[in-house]
Amino acid sequence: MGWNTWNKYNCQISEDIIKSNADEIVNLGLDKLGYVYVNIDDCWQIKDRDAQNHVQYDKTKFPNGMKAIGDYLHSKNLKFGIYSSAGTMTCQQRAGSLDFETIDAADYYAWGVDYLKYDNCYNQGRKAVERYTKMRDALLAQPKQIYYSICNWGEEDTWKWAKDIGNSWRTTGDISNSWSSMRVNYLQSSQHPEIAGPGGWNDPDMLEIGNGGMSLVEEKSHFALWAFVKSPLILGCDLTKLSTDQIAIISNQNIIKLNQDSLGQQAKCVQGCNGNIEVYQAYHNDLGGYYGLLVVNWSDWFSQSIEIDFLVAGVTNKANDTCKLVDLWTGQVIGTFTSKYYASGIAIHDHL
Ligand code: GLA
Repeated sequence: MGWNTWNKYNCQISEDIIKSNADEIVNLGLDKLGYVYVNIDDCWQIKDRDAQNHVQYDKTKFPNGMKAIGDYLHSKNLKFGIYSSAGTMTCQQRAGSLDFETIDAADYYAWGVDYLKYDNCYNQGRKAVERYTKMRDALLAQPKQIYYSICNWGEEDTWKWAKDIGNSWRTTGDISNSWSSMRVNYLQSSQHPEIAGPGGWNDPDMLEIGNGGMSLVEEKSHFALWAFVKSPLILGCDLTKLSTDQIAIISNQNIIKLNQDSLGQQAKCVQGCNGNIEVYQAYHNDLGGYYGLLVVNWSDWFSQSIEIDFLVAGVTNKANDTCKLVDLWTGQVIGTFTSKYYASGIAIHDHL
């Protein structure tokens, strides 16, 4: 859980922007909820390496250098994330790390980096497994553990190899600031729920909450969906501009607990799959042990209803079993139901 510059700021980043968002994490108490990584995405570097082949930070954006950022974040008990590409250049044509893995990983360590997002641009057509393994090994050679976020856009059957290499791997292309993009990424990231678990996660990309492209209902569904598939929860907005309602969404303790559940089971589709209204299910260890169910209305035109059959949904293995349903957002008991629950009138793009 954390925050990243890309979705909101693209290349328009600076030391001040990092610091003001880090400060806001602490102001809002988001760090206490688990949002601890503060990640600088593309454009912190310049194109050319120095005479000793070190990557050079952009002095106009970061006059005090990267270690100063790391020190600042650590002084707030936050963690420092940085970005590079497993190619000759990053996607924005700054210096990439291909064939400079050892030197770059050592610099990251020296700056206090705790997290690396490693992109896939300008990869020279070399195999992802080899390129991503080289950086993994360079990171592992550092004296402290650095979270390794593979950004391979789901290419080259990422789900077959990335779990052995990274702590998370992108399953999709880039999210953009809209419901339809969020939906595409969610559905694509839901294709291999079985490979996710503690230590390695499917990553449908960063959150767009607070960037103005979705209604509040859509933002709430976006958060619930990401939480349910055990996605990394990386915020991507200007945190100082969030409304009270948006802060309530990203701060909901039950939804965060569900996302961070110790079993780490990614929700899978169990009813209505590929239709307008889908039901997702996952078992959770924490909060006393429970099945989570998420019903989402993908329709752009109509409210939707679905009868959830407890046997079919896999939350029981006995016919006529009774289930108590609780709304995790509010903690309120919906009721106790035998065999089935009729989820009715879910509004457009809403969820239950
Ligand atoms: C790629 C990644 C994005 C972002 C940009 C930066 O497109 O997938 O998440 O890091 O590069 O240039």
